[in-house]
Amino acid sequence: MKHHKLLFVCLGNICRSPMAEGVFAYVAAQAGHADRFTLDSAGTAAWHTGNPPDPRGQTAAAARDIDLSGLRARQVREKDFTEFDLILAMDEANFTELSALATEGKAHKVRLFLDDAPGLGLSEVPDPYYGGDEGFEEVLDLIETGSKALLAKLI
Ligand code: 4NP
Repeated sequence: MKHHKLLFVCLGNICRSPMAEGVFAYVAAQAGHADRFTLDSAGTAAWHTGNPPDPRGQTAAAARDIDLSGLRARQVREKDFTEFDLILAMDEANFTELSALATEGKAHKVRLFLDDAPGLGLSEVPDPYYGGDEGFEEVLDLIETGSKALLAKLI
């Protein structure tokens, strides 16, 4: 069975992409497929390098039995484009930036995370950073739907 290496990417790597990493891991484990995935997340910006996920996201995820406390932010790096099979952008700006950063012949690995969940009618996971706690709940719901759709496509 194929092993998949997935990198989830947003801007700061403290809100959306660590939630996507944690939720995808949870959904894959629930389906009995944890061993088929290597997961990581990163940001296109370096501002939060070394920081844990936003406390609002950690709290919202913990209420769903998903522990994000061990994750630390990092910036996307060149070798990500060779090491990972798929690089999943949370929004169009991330997608554009990643496509520009992609090394020779690797741009096909960059995709919008919600591409596999067309039923949502959304192409982007909105940035909850400047909003309230409820934004993190909505983002977790979107990410859960996106993760289940991506998992179904890959297994
Ligand atoms: P993220 O959210 O890209 O989902 O991690 C953000 C986190 C921090 C900032 C912007 C977005 N910031 O401007 O510091």
